[in-house]
Amino acid sequence: MQHAEFNLVVLISGNGSNLQAIIDAIQAQTLPVSLRAVISDRPGAFGLARAAEARIPAHVVDYRQFPQREDFDKALMQQIDAYSPDLVVLAGFMRILTTDFVEHYLGKMINVHPSLLPKYQGLNTHQRVLDAGEQIHGASVHYVTPELDSGPLILQGEVPVFPDESAKSLQQRVHAIEHKILPAAIRLIATGQVTFRKHRVYYGDKPMEKFQLDALAKQL
Ligand code: GRF
Repeated sequence: MQHAEFNLVVLISGNGSNLQAIIDAIQAQTLPVSLRAVISDRPGAFGLARAAEARIPAHVVDYRQFPQREDFDKALMQQIDAYSPDLVVLAGFMRILTTDFVEHYLGKMINVHPSLLPKYQGLNTHQRVLDAGEQIHGASVHYVTPELDSGPLILQGEVPVFPDESAKSLQQRVHAIEHKILPAAIRLIATGQVTFRKHRVYYGDKPMEKFQLDALAKQL
């Protein structure tokens, strides 16, 4: 019997290197999903060219055309829902979404964030990590909930912070780990190993605990 396809829609705002990691994993047949569409909130996003190159339908919902955030979210929702996705992936999507939007996709939308959440929510994470003298940094994939960068974790990857490191070099290594954990997290969801129930992440039939996150990180 043929498995039903697991449909993905990816939202971007810029370079789209995480989008590329997803495309590469699908093409390498290590990620059993169908990437139905890429949607950008900015017309100039380089990720749109990556989508075109991979022959994936790409759309722009230009945030500048919607002075009201609610109207932007509504237009975005229509564009996403036209593809009936099983999962919406925020891959460097730089808009803060309304609660209605987030609730609409609750348990069906994930984000990649450049820090070991719950530490360093928000922007400029690499510089803040350096300023704080941290020795370990990394990236997280989490379900999106109405509180910014606070949803339950699916997967994390660590990188060491070297002495005399610049924010730029740290960012590059964090990016490399993002490119591993994002396709891996999508795979866990698409294969049913990870689920979202009652506002929690489950790994198999048990709520995801820290030790499990650590074990999954070791398998990367
Ligand atoms: C990544 O660092 C991601 O964690 C953050 O935005 C950046 C997007 O990079 N949310 P790219 O567009 O995927 O290259």
